[in-house]
Amino acid sequence: MKRVLVCGSNGLLGQRLARLFHSDDEYEVLHSSHHRSFVQSDILIDYTQLDISNRSDVKSLVTSFRPDVILNAAAMTNVDACERGREQAWKMNVTAVENLVEVSRRIDAKLIHISTDYVFDGKTGQYTETDRVNPVNYYGKTKLAGENVLVSSGINYCILRTIVIYGTGVSVRNNYALWVINNLQEKKPIHCAVDQISNPTYVHDLAFAMKQCIEYNADGIYHVAGAEAVSRYEFAIRIAEVFGFDPELISKVKSSDLPQLAQRPLHTTFVVDKAKRTFMYNPMNITQGLKLLQEELTGIHLN
Ligand SMILES: NC(=O)c1ccc[n+]([C@@H]2O[C@H](COP(=O)([O-])OP(=O)(O)OC[C@H]3O[C@@H](n4cnc5c(N)ncnc54)[C@H](OP(=O)(O)O)[C@@H]3O)[C@@H](O)[C@H]2O)c1
Repeated sequence: MKRVLVCGSNGLLGQRLARLFHSDDEYEVLHSSHHRSFVQSDILIDYTQLDISNRSDVKSLVTSFRPDVILNAAAMTNVDACERGREQAWKMNVTAVENLVEVSRRIDAKLIHISTDYVFDGKTGQYTETDRVNPVNYYGKTKLAGENVLVSSGINYCILRTIVIYGTGVSVRNNYALWVINNLQEKKPIHCAVDQISNPTYVHDLAFAMKQCIEYNADGIYHVAGAEAVSRYEFAIRIAEVFGFDPELISKVKSSDLPQLAQRPLHTTFVVDKAKRTFMYNPMNITQGLKLLQEELTGIHLN
């Protein structure tokens, strides 16, 4: 039986990982996050509070639990907040990764970490794992620095770069799909960028890919994203179609017209062939993902 430590269990991805591993007897999993308790009350999991930016706490938990694998789903993910709070962003997205690398080395554990399309400048799109990185905002810079900590560490690591995760969970940060759904449900007009193009990724696919990385003992960098590339505007239209909202509420804007502090890379679509080849990654298309999300939001489908 493999021992797995999950960090960031209260986030969107972390909550999905908790459900994914919940009924799997092949793994002994300890979930952890910054908050005192696990936010989902309907499933029973082993949970402990852990601030991964605290080096000595990381060291003492990991040396006592001795996981074979650490899954890091924790990060400072608000792009504009990273631009404003640079010190905090570095602490979470780089220093905390250094802490996890140090303990992984000490006990010879594999570290599986999540990175982002924001390591690219978005000038060309269709990025493969070997394409040149060039982040345009501070969040992207910290995530790239976090990647570099792993790449130069000499430990057994896997980095999954992903894009615009959507899904739901308890008290999760508002992701793009939830923002669209909440506004359209209340019949509020929204402005969506036509020039920001990417592959939205359903959180179930990403969590499953992390598990597959363990099962296939994948290492190195992989692109893991949704099956279809769309603009934010098109994504909102697809949401309106699936959920039965009025598409007239959605208007087209350019990214530069939106009041966002940090610059966004515009065209960050991914080629996911390496993940498909290596660990059978097979992402859903947008309609499939949105229909599952709709079921989750109405409480039909939770596991
Ligand atoms: N969301 C996206 O669209 C997107 C796109 C590309 C890549 N990514 C990457 O995907 C990963 C998962 O993102 P997500 O959307 O699931 O994130 P999220 O919902 O923002 O969750 C991140 C979680 O990290 C935990 N955390 C924060 N500081 C911590 C600390 N010091 N120690 C331990 N836990 C801490 C928080 O837990 P508490 O609630 O317990 O405080 C929070 O719930 C991140 O690496 C992110 O960079 C996300």
